[in-house]
Amino acid sequence: MIMEGLIKEAEEFLGENPAPDVMDAGLIANAQRVEHYEIAAYGAVRTFARMMGHNDMVSLLQQTLDEEGQTDQKLTKLAESGVNQEAERAKNKK
Ligand SMILES: [Fe+2]
Repeated sequence: MIMEGLIKEAEEFLGENPAPDVMDAGLIANAQRVEHYEIAAYGAVRTFARMMGHNDMVSLLQQTLDEEGQTDQKLTKLAESGVNQEAERAKNKK
């Protein structure tokens, strides 16, 4: 349900026909919302697994959680490497 909402949000954003630079920044921000949702979900399930003593699952879920965090960090770096600044410039040209 949440993922469907995030996809719908991205579709609505794209439907506004943003300038290419604004589109890049917006899609990165949307992807980060997806990652943050995943981080919350995997973190909770990992904790439940730990509480139930499923240590094999805990390590796998922690590995997935770490990967989601790394993806989020890569998206932040991408956004801050110039994409957001280009989007702001494009927006100010309008
Ligand atoms: Fe992810």
